[in-house]
Amino acid sequence: MKLYVWGTGCGAGDLADHGLEISQVCAFLDSAPLSDRFLGCPVLRPEEVENEEIDLILVASRHADAIAQKAEELGIDREKLVFLKNNWALTDRNRDYTAAESVLDPRYLDGVRAPHHAVRDPLWTEASPLAPRDLENDYVRVRSLEVLCRGLDEVPGAAAELGVYCGGFAGCINALLPERTLYLFDTFAGFDEAEAGGDNAGFVQAHRNTGADRVLRCMPHPEKIIVRQGLFPASLGRLEERFALVSLDVDLEESTLAGLRWFYPRLNPGGYILLHDFHSPRLPGVKRALRRYEAELGVRLPAVPLCDINGTLVLCRNLELNTK
Ligand SMILES: C[S@@+](CC[C@H](N)C(=O)[O-])C[C@H]1O[C@@H](n2cnc3c(N)ncnc32)[C@H](O)[C@@H]1O
Repeated sequence: MKLYVWGTGCGAGDLADHGLEISQVCAFLDSAPLSDRFLGCPVLRPEEVENEEIDLILVASRHADAIAQKAEELGIDREKLVFLKNNWALTDRNRDYTAAESVLDPRYLDGVRAPHHAVRDPLWTEASPLAPRDLENDYVRVRSLEVLCRGLDEVPGAAAELGVYCGGFAGCINALLPERTLYLFDTFAGFDEAEAGGDNAGFVQAHRNTGADRVLRCMPHPEKIIVRQGLFPASLGRLEERFALVSLDVDLEESTLAGLRWFYPRLNPGGYILLHDFHSPRLPGVKRALRRYEAELGVRLPAVPLCDINGTLVLCRNLELNTK
């Protein structure tokens, strides 16, 4: 079987951690590869493989529509592709809108043309600064971020993300809070090896596939970004700052605890910390870290869970009551 995996990110890493025998894989495919090997296999551009050399391509990237289109351009048979992410997207059955355009409101037709989501767009998103691509990440997570950001007008402070990886979620924060400084904390070279341990080799290796320059280039307002590259909390240096919104997404227990200890006391009243993966059975250290931090404080922190893919918990700081 001539087997390929399209993608060299977390989705591809996940396959290795979920039983795919990597020695069966001829190559990983990536249109913009960051390295020429992934999990010991060669990484090729899709143009470098011929249709006849392929029996099966596992598409382990969320950019399913773009990959389907690229495969068609390259003459790769559609039935050789199995989409493992965003495979629920429906294709448009309507081939031609020209006749309908002369009789229907263009905004109505835009809605008809839009790709289908498992969750419908809410009515208040008409003027959203988010790009359709941002919503491919995790629809509920990104839309929840949007509604939280819309409620931050009265809350002063910067924004931050600890655990940035390729900057997909950081780009959403930057788009939604264009006036605020956004601190990005990451090694941009993956997890601390000692903390990650020996398990989940695919997951760990996939997170090395990034870089601070590459992340900065994807930010809609790069002038508002301050990159703090290195292992947190050492990467803080002498930073003095307060925050309105923090995304805490480092997956592992000790780094999550370090993030909570530093950011929670610096969160302004009315602000939020989005603690990603809190309900993820795969990353139990995140919940343990919060419980340890709460034990140190001697209180349960006010929090609201989201039903996004990895079970974010939104930690809140109370607004002071105005008694006048
Ligand atoms: C799951 S990824 C972040 C994903 C990103 N928030 C998103 O939604 O697109 C976790 C990131 O945390 C970073 N990380 C983990 N522990 C860290 C630490 N102690 N200091 C800096 N970065 C860390 C890793 O390098 C990795 O890029």
